[in-house]
Amino acid sequence: MKQKILITGTNRGLGLALTRIYLSQGHEVFTINRRQGDVLQSLKNEYTDQLKLYIGDVADEISIENAVRTIEKETDSIDMLINNAAVLFPADNVPIEKVDFSVYGATYDVNAVGPLRVVKYALPLVRKGMGKRIVNISSEAGSVTDSWRKSEYAYCMSKSALNMASSILQNYVKKDEIKVLAVHPGWFSSDMGTSAAPITPDESAVKVVRLLEKTFALDGPMYFDLDGKEMQW
Ligand SMILES: NC(=O)c1ccc[n+]([C@@H]2O[C@H](COP(=O)([O-])OP(=O)(O)OC[C@H]3O[C@@H](n4cnc5c(N)ncnc54)[C@H](OP(=O)(O)O)[C@@H]3O)[C@@H](O)[C@H]2O)c1
Repeated sequence: MKQKILITGTNRGLGLALTRIYLSQGHEVFTINRRQGDVLQSLKNEYTDQLKLYIGDVADEISIENAVRTIEKETDSIDMLINNAAVLFPADNVPIEKVDFSVYGATYDVNAVGPLRVVKYALPLVRKGMGKRIVNISSEAGSVTDSWRKSEYAYCMSKSALNMASSILQNYVKKDEIKVLAVHPGWFSSDMGTSAAPITPDESAVKVVRLLEKTFALDGPMYFDLDGKEMQW
């Protein structure tokens, strides 16, 4: 069945790969980006009716409210919201003695609070959707149980916070029969993942799409890797 899918951060990496797959499957894709890249623009030329592009910065509440208000003029429902936009600053990848705390606030603001800014305004649309999914692209970096890094505090802490946000949100939207998921998409090559990663964004996206086709119990697990294995918070 044709779905209406809202995705943030689709200029490149996983967001772009997910957008491509969902468009090729015939779904309608609404994207929110802080700027529109050339690749996205050429995709728009190919999928004129299916792809809808909106400007919004997940760190800026007014811009997200404006983006969603514009989306509401186009549709009265969203079947799945995928909160994908995130940042990882190079300055985060240093030992504690050299940490530059100025990147901490921005990392938290985009990665942990950003998804909630989108949910704040898009929730009424998701409530009216079919399937009713809110997917937060998390990371194994957010797992306290499986923690192994010796740096990247800000990124890891922001993803742990996103996991907590996902859990609280699930408690709240259970009554609306909305399933919230926190998904670790694997380590893939992108500006964030670097060229050292073992898989491409397309390979990650294929598996994420397959995972999201599954049925999930409202009271069941929420945190999964791209192979569908449940992860520990
Ligand atoms: N890459 C990996 O190996 C890996 C592993 C685990 C989890 N993840 C997660 O997977 C997701 C996608 O990662 P990726 O590697 O594809 O990242 P990426 O290549 O760095 O792309 C990030 C996307 O997010 C957008 N974005 C950043 N800040 C934004 C903001 N304030 N408002 C709106 N959009 C914003 C970027 O837009 P601009 O083009 O405007 O900068 C870009 O389109 C992220 O949630 C990441 O944490 C990635």
